[in-house]
Amino acid sequence: MSQRVAVYPGSFDPVTLGHLDILDRATAIFDRVMVAVLANPAKTPLFTAEERVEIIRQCIADRPNVDVGSFDGLTVDYAESLGATAIVRGLRVLSDFESEFTMALMNRRLKPSINTVFLMTSFSNVFISSSIIKEVCALGGSVDEVAPDVSVRAMRRKFGIDTS
Ligand code: PNS
Repeated sequence: MSQRVAVYPGSFDPVTLGHLDILDRATAIFDRVMVAVLANPAKTPLFTAEERVEIIRQCIADRPNVDVGSFDGLTVDYAESLGATAIVRGLRVLSDFESEFTMALMNRRLKPSINTVFLMTSFSNVFISSSIIKEVCALGGSVDEVAPDVSVRAMRRKFGIDTS
């Protein structure tokens, strides 16, 4: 039987526990999930694509059916190149819906054979985003409960905060 492959695209600048929550839900549905880091997102990222991929690589070390790569260009083209039939996106709050709905419909128009699958995050992750954890971390606040250790250490290094 053919494998059900999904891509989970995003900026992941850096990956949060909310992202990993969605990833774990996706692996319960698909045989293989490729985390797809958009190399050049519209907003200037804190981390290079290589750094974002490496952070995720460390987070997925014990997740056997997950891989990570980076891409530029259209998500649907990257998905197709991997033989994926689905794009996974996480939904947190209602305000996510409009832009996600637009994106899903455009992706469907571009590549009708690829469906977007929305997964709801856990309640505890509803207010977590990469932007908010970067802001809090840069200002010296604790983000230990909302980001994996590897992301926290990488952010603290970037912001020149003592990591000892
Ligand atoms: O983590 P983000 O920033 O919300 O992820 C957005 C992302 C990377 C999924 C989206 O910007 C994207 O797919 N970009 C690739 C270019 C593309 O395919 N654009 C058309 C989507 S309608």
